[in-house]
Amino acid sequence: LLMLIVTALVAYLLGSIPFGIVMARLFGLGDLRQIGSGNIGATNVLRTGNKLAAFLTLLGDSGKGALAVILARLLVGEQAAGIAGLCAMLGHLYPIYLRFKGGKGVATFLGTLLALSLPVGLLACATWLLVAVVTRYSSLSALVAALMAPIYTAAFYHLHGAILVLVLTALIFYKHRDNIARLKAGTETKIGKKG
Ligand code: G3P
Repeated sequence: LLMLIVTALVAYLLGSIPFGIVMARLFGLGDLRQIGSGNIGATNVLRTGNKLAAFLTLLGDSGKGALAVILARLLVGEQAAGIAGLCAMLGHLYPIYLRFKGGKGVATFLGTLLALSLPVGLLACATWLLVAVVTRYSSLSALVAALMAPIYTAAFYHLHGAILVLVLTALIFYKHRDNIARLKAGTETKIGKKG
């Protein structure tokens, strides 16, 4: 049990690292909170025009989710891996380093899924990509991928996992409530556009 608590805590702290903020600072892109949607994710880093910084943000934010899951699996076991994924997501959404004002969790979600189950992660990434190519909306792509993920999980991982992923889906929807309003109003910005 102690190991489980420690891995959950490590996963939360890992998830809390805001790679968007780190990259924006490293590349001298200014304060992400004042740019575009004000979000700390890769989509918003891309609005600065710096593709490398956006890519590294995507890599960092997804990698931390994957790392949390893999560490927990190695140190404790498969159930702990799911819990670590949840904790990494909570870290990204409510980071201790940013007074609990975090991101929307899409990259961390995809990284977590890839590490939990490769087919589930790949299907979720493919769903995101497909919707992104067709609509050019990052938020909509995330919402559709998040909606499909519990189904993929039930089919290719296991049912308990699907319940956990459903919680992550709900968190992603909650964090995208402004995006959902913009999508409905037709004012959401497309990928790569400054808006
Ligand atoms: O990855 C977050 C994305 O779904 C929306 O980001 O900056 O357009 O609110 P943003």
